[in-house]
Amino acid sequence: MDSSLKVASTIAEIRALVQSCRAEGKQVGVVPTMGALHEGHLSLMRAARTRCDVLVSTIFVNPTQFAPGEDFEKYPRPLDHDLDLCRSEGVDLVFTPTPDIMYPAGHQTHVEVEGISQPWEGAHRPSHFRGVTTVVLKLLNIVLADVAFFGQKDYQQQLLIRQMCRDLDVPTRIETCETIREEDGLALSSRNAYLSAEERTQAVKLSTALQWGLEEIAGGVQDLSQIRQEMSQRLTAETEFVLDYITIVDAWSLEELESPRDHMVAIAAATLGSTRLIDNMLIPPFSLQTLNDR
Ligand code: PAJ
Repeated sequence: MDSSLKVASTIAEIRALVQSCRAEGKQVGVVPTMGALHEGHLSLMRAARTRCDVLVSTIFVNPTQFAPGEDFEKYPRPLDHDLDLCRSEGVDLVFTPTPDIMYPAGHQTHVEVEGISQPWEGAHRPSHFRGVTTVVLKLLNIVLADVAFFGQKDYQQQLLIRQMCRDLDVPTRIETCETIREEDGLALSSRNAYLSAEERTQAVKLSTALQWGLEEIAGGVQDLSQIRQEMSQRLTAETEFVLDYITIVDAWSLEELESPRDHMVAIAAATLGSTRLIDNMLIPPFSLQTLNDR
């Protein structure tokens, strides 16, 4: 590809651009996003840049993954700035469809992963994952990349996407990349921009509570329900956090655990003011390598 960024807003355009790269035998990587790009998104682009010849990013605030009353309307959409960031990361092609292009009148088909979409985020945001898997399958079908890159930050999301690709024989390989954090440990998120200064100082407790749980397990504590209780106390003490969940689950089934096993993840979601934050940490020896090699 030459160094100039090409922006396509129709399916036919992006397909033609990707197709001409594939015809030259190039490996295509895609990073799906909703824009408002931050270092977390950029790290996915860098991973894709090192592994693929052609880097495609998609920017689409997907209405179907927001429930009524969630932040779809106020979700930040700084498109020009996002395109500048894409340029500086060496992105070759950006797909920026409108809702009409992704969901023209008459759209009737949705994709639902069953079991692992139900707990945690699925329980707190009932229509969310159906919107995510539907749009991701559409984006994968449109771009036809060899590899698609997702963040560990949304652990349940990437697990569902992997399941969908396995179940529906999607040929794109899924790569999950580590969570990028602020210096104090807060996971980067486009929604962090909603936090007031006071909330921002409290927000760090989401990651420190999870980190505390990891250290207890590393220290040999076997009673996970006791760790769960203490993590939730640590999160909510002297903060305005309203807890959805903070717990330790099996990394594959997402079932809540009472005692340790090899594949575990500590997951959390809580709301501060009007901002809902999520985070997770893989519990060693479980690692991204295990996930990506599976
Ligand atoms: P969005 O929230 O924009 O995130 C796009 C990708 O960036 C996701 O794979 C997400 O896990 C990853 N990401 C977000 N914060 C990160 C961080 N701090 N470190 C590393 N990666 C991070 O997730 C979505 O959009 C949408 O649901 C989408 C998959 C695009 C479907 O609409």
